[in-house]
Amino acid sequence: MKSQKGLIALTLVASAATSFSQTAVTKSVFGNTPDGKPVDVYTLKDKTLEIKIATWGAHIISVKAPDKSGNIADVVLGYNSMDAAGASYLADKNTYMGSVVGRYGNRIAKGKFSLDGHNYTLPTNDHGNTLHGGTVGFDRHNWTAKQIPGGVELTLVSPDGDQGFPGTLTAHVRYTLTSDKLRIAYSATTDKPTVINLTNHTYFNLAGSGDILNDVLMLRADKYTPTDKTLIPTGETPSVAGTPFDFRTPTPIGARINDNNEQLKIAGGYDHNFILTGPSDLTHAAAKVTDPASGRTLTVYTTEPGVQFYTGNFLDGSLKGRDSAPYTKHSGLCLETQHYPDSPNHPAFPSTTLNPGETYHTTTIFQFGTK
Ligand code: BGC
Repeated sequence: MKSQKGLIALTLVASAATSFSQTAVTKSVFGNTPDGKPVDVYTLKDKTLEIKIATWGAHIISVKAPDKSGNIADVVLGYNSMDAAGASYLADKNTYMGSVVGRYGNRIAKGKFSLDGHNYTLPTNDHGNTLHGGTVGFDRHNWTAKQIPGGVELTLVSPDGDQGFPGTLTAHVRYTLTSDKLRIAYSATTDKPTVINLTNHTYFNLAGSGDILNDVLMLRADKYTPTDKTLIPTGETPSVAGTPFDFRTPTPIGARINDNNEQLKIAGGYDHNFILTGPSDLTHAAAKVTDPASGRTLTVYTTEPGVQFYTGNFLDGSLKGRDSAPYTKHSGLCLETQHYPDSPNHPAFPSTTLNPGETYHTTTIFQFGTK
């Protein structure tokens, strides 16, 4: 029995080593932080994909992927520069383009919550609510990086009281590339009870340019969380059946986006948390996007219970991307795997509390293919 177990372990290690050994990882300098510290970029290259990750905000800054004829395009929105006016990560103050958002991705109503009898107040930055961790979230820090097999591990220590949140939180994000899959593994520990909701805020555009309205989306969600006018969940979890929120059968994103629907009007498109149906694991696709023209596909797997599907409604053309093209409404889509927005104020939602002695673990996989 013992030797069999040993054999299985050895085989697993060997196969992991084989798949990672095809991924080349290199490091270069991308730019500087506002206080002059170097921002590095790690390039993860496999047979078909080339992915760039910056230490600044743990951003995914580029994903080059082939289409059905082998033509390469960058399928995520991003910038070539840290600090160029109107076209860089420092100039962009509110799109969270490709970053890891935290300590609490998405919204907390009125910047207030209580935990274990203590009331906490956070800085508000979006219609009186706290969005993506506050005014200086995890996206605006330079993470410490270390190369690991097949990728890079980024670490950020957020001190007790950072943006009003309790507890020193040590967060790790491991990006690894194996063949056509980019795996993002998040983990964290705290020294006081706190709340946490980490996600990645990449805007995908599988065509490499234009808008995402012709992309066909499947979302494995029977229910979603509608919001009030400030995009805070009302607490209801209605069925998607018979509404423009039903993507259980693959449907073009633009087909119903302009329907006379109160929820779509509030957000100027889709900007909603979908409640995933069935097992939250890494073998059942939570979402799949297909760009019919290029044939490129993106399949999302996650251990999280929800996905914020956001159609770039607030991209207003004021920022220019890497090809100098302005990023306008619907030029990218986000599939932010997450716990539900404002969970600390909704006891019926899955808990986002992390206690000392526990380790937060979530994993999301973005798989790139063609059809
Ligand atoms: C939010 C949007 C917001 C965007 C960029 C998304 O996660 O749901 O409302 O505009 O992030 O800040």
